Amino acid sequence: MTKIIAGTHNQHKLEEYRELLDGQDLEIVSLNDYPEYAEPEENGKTFEENANIKALSATNYCDVLSFADDSGLEVEALDNAPGIYSSRYAANDKARVERILKELEGKENRRARFVCVISIAFNNEVVGSFRGEVYGKIIDEPRGTNGFGYDPAFMPDGFDKTFAELTREEKNKISHRANAIEKVIEFVEDEMSILDDELSSF
Ligand code: IMP
Repeated sequence: MTKIIAGTHNQHKLEEYRELLDGQDLEIVSLNDYPEYAEPEENGKTFEENANIKALSATNYCDVLSFADDSGLEVEALDNAPGIYSSRYAANDKARVERILKELEGKENRRARFVCVISIAFNNEVVGSFRGEVYGKIIDEPRGTNGFGYDPAFMPDGFDKTFAELTREEKNKISHRANAIEKVIEFVEDEMSILDDELSSF
């Protein structure tokens, strides 16, 4: 079993990852297991750059294979804001959702997408970077209590429920994170023998 560190402290993300990676030959630990770890500054200009920064920082600190994501919501009518600033858009989840709804007041175009980029790193090198997306719209009023972040405001295409009204299992079938993780799993399955050699010689 290969040990891998998830470069996040976000318990919600971690639970989604554990579920999505269930059945893989991976022992998943997280930054919560390294209380001394100081998070790097997320000063990238893209999801990819920020995911790379987080994955490299985690692998360099812990000396194990790492993966980290950067994710966020892009709203078409707001020139793709909040994008990489999604977690910094307001003080907490409720305020973030309120801000989006306020900024969209009177706007007809409600198209939006969630983006998730996952980078895998080892030995001071990013060995892969994978993007997942899910398209939908921002509704007028928040609905539902599951999930986290902007989930109560986002209704994925083909559904009449928000992400916060779907069960975690339902969300995990279609989410941006699930989509990116699918690509990660393909990569891990194809490349694991190569990575295993590297990991054991490290
Ligand atoms: P990160 O930890 O820098 O990737 O921050 C991502 C931010 O985007 C989170 O704090 C949420 O506000 C938002 N976000 C990312 N993924 C989701 C999701 O699955 N549902 C709702 N909000 C999300």
